[in-house]
Amino acid sequence: MGKKSVGSLDVAGKRVLVRVDFNVPMDGLGVGDDRRIRAALPTIRSVIDRGGRAILMSHLGRPKGEGYEQSLSLAPVAKRLGELLEKPVAFPSRDCVDQASADAVGATSDGDVVLLENLRFNKGEKAGDSAFAMKLAAYGDAYVNDAFGTCHRSDASMVAVPAAMGSRPRVAGFLVEKEIKFLQGTIASPERPFVVVLGGAKVSDKMGTIERLLPKADAILIGGAMAYTFVAALGKGVGTSKVETDRLADAKRMINAAANSGVDLHLPVDHVCSSAFSEDAGDIEVFKDSIKDGYMGLDIGPETQSVFAGVIRKAKTIVWNGPMGVFEWAPFRVGTKMVGKAIADATAAGATSVVGGGDSAAAVEEFGLADKMSHVSTGGGASLQMLEGKPFKALELIEDA
Ligand code: 3PG
Repeated sequence: MGKKSVGSLDVAGKRVLVRVDFNVPMDGLGVGDDRRIRAALPTIRSVIDRGGRAILMSHLGRPKGEGYEQSLSLAPVAKRLGELLEKPVAFPSRDCVDQASADAVGATSDGDVVLLENLRFNKGEKAGDSAFAMKLAAYGDAYVNDAFGTCHRSDASMVAVPAAMGSRPRVAGFLVEKEIKFLQGTIASPERPFVVVLGGAKVSDKMGTIERLLPKADAILIGGAMAYTFVAALGKGVGTSKVETDRLADAKRMINAAANSGVDLHLPVDHVCSSAFSEDAGDIEVFKDSIKDGYMGLDIGPETQSVFAGVIRKAKTIVWNGPMGVFEWAPFRVGTKMVGKAIADATAAGATSVVGGGDSAAAVEEFGLADKMSHVSTGGGASLQMLEGKPFKALELIEDA
């Protein structure tokens, strides 16, 4: 990757300012899903186990930037992090740059962990404000970016803070290194066959990824709601399925580009459909080829599932981003589950599998398949943009190795 790593940072006795992405789902009781917190543990442990002091900063949700909002406080995250680390995590104040926060940072001893309150309570964070960034930068002898999920943002803590570090070290955390290794490295030189599986709601979200990966892939499998725009572009009946009419020309262009470059572009050949967009209302039918009027596609059909699984099982590198249907609803989850299982089987047989974050990460968690993948990204937007090959300012500011 060519970036300096926290692993080679001299941390003993130092205050190490670590930007993490603890933007996690909450439920009524606290942290609903702690995957992003667990993913940051190797970096945090590396700092404190070697006698450093970890000063952690993160955002949570999208507060207005006008001060403290209890529902978006990181307090439950501090509690969960303390449980995972089996040690106290100081959580000093309602404002990450007030005197109490500065005092808590100043009072740390070697091996201590401090979590600052939600950065976005201060409008300087989203604005990328340099005065706000200077206050944060003053907390650290070194800066670590381990917030992969936020690397596509130019928030102050991602860009203005490392820029304000001057001659102090700016390095990548272990999670960021791992994400780059899989989302950039694996794709740069994939073992073949290289199969890309794309789904989810919108073609427009995935166009950049298709354009970038089409020249590299041996096969592209398209499911989810986005597939209906492609099916419609072929002139087939899609009933009331979601179609992005302004993307029909793009879809046609992609179909032709795949044909011209010898890439197998697989679209669904059958569809699990309902007459209503609802988990249990409406009658459920499977249609081959064209969808009957009055019905909408909500999952890939059984024949498509076995075609997709067959292609996936022969792959040596697999990238998956986006579910095949409305996997949150029992009648429409089979396609996503079958694809997940096929990827897990291919991985067990030696393939490298990379699951983009967001919905597909949630799906593999739900199906108990997360540990069977080579890598499940913690990024949503960030993983997609990295797959598209977009440059990240936040990473440019990390020192080259
Ligand atoms: C994410 O969950 O995608 C990141 O934490 C970034 O959050 P944001 O989309 O609110 O900037």
